Amino acid sequence: MKQALTITKMKKMKQQGEAISMLTAYDYPSAKLAEEAGIDIILVGDSLGNVVLGYDTTIPVTLDDMVYHTRATVRGAANTFVVADLSFMTYRLSVETTLRNAARLMQEGRAHAVKMEGGTDIADEVAALVRAGIPVMGHIGLTPQSVHQLGGYKVQGKLPKEAQQLIDDAKALEAAGAFAIVLELVTEPLAAAITRELSIPTIGIGAGRGCDGQVLVYHDLLKYASPYREKKFVKTYADIGTTIREAISSYVTEVKSRAFPAEQHAFGVQEQSEIASLYGGQEQAAAASESPAKELLHQGGART
Ligand code: KIV
Repeated sequence: MKQALTITKMKKMKQQGEAISMLTAYDYPSAKLAEEAGIDIILVGDSLGNVVLGYDTTIPVTLDDMVYHTRATVRGAANTFVVADLSFMTYRLSVETTLRNAARLMQEGRAHAVKMEGGTDIADEVAALVRAGIPVMGHIGLTPQSVHQLGGYKVQGKLPKEAQQLIDDAKALEAAGAFAIVLELVTEPLAAAITRELSIPTIGIGAGRGCDGQVLVYHDLLKYASPYREKKFVKTYADIGTTIREAISSYVTEVKSRAFPAEQHAFGVQEQSEIASLYGGQEQAAAASESPAKELLHQGGART
């Protein structure tokens, strides 16, 4: 059986030059499929707001949303390291609030670690979480919770002053005890330089080839959106959106034309014992085969 990664193993992977794969997931089936596909880390990102909940930013995502989706995700990926985002303003208010909210993601959500956006400005909170035994993944560069402050979803670190700030942020997070840092929409040379400077892994998204690992949003990798907005830094590996739309459209057509259900989807009287075994196990099946229709009606098994 697959063993969940540990933060010690992640550091070793960096030292040995083994790339780390991370993908977002938000519920049981997406997590289960990601785990089966061999992903190293699952991130229950607050991108949940954009790709699942229909918001235009991550800002409306609440801690309750994160706890709910983290629980479902962990149920689907019991053998994978799961990181959950602390959503907008669930930290930064006070160290105590941050500790309490991170604890919910771990106790109720069952996450292995939390992720927070920010650098030098949140270093004290990161250190407090780490002291309390809560592993923290940092997130710098384009930090979507600050999208309005940043003036849009733009590449960060293009100017020397910005680049220096990001280097300082990365070092502050490492010094505070973060076990890894996401670099989002950062120029490739800067991301590579930060990666070289740190002993902890960097996980890039739109940060080029020099990071220790890569992360993508589940719905981007699978083109699972309508309309799907192309992004330069994303590679789509499938077009699930089109597949789903076409499948549902075929279903609608077949219901309208009465092509579905066909004979093989329907139950005849001679199959009553099979229906009983579907709904009530062996004893009901035996009872139903003695007195088929009456028994099924009694047990509520004739719903179908
Ligand atoms: O919320 C998220 O999905 C993220 C990734 C883009 C890193 O933070």
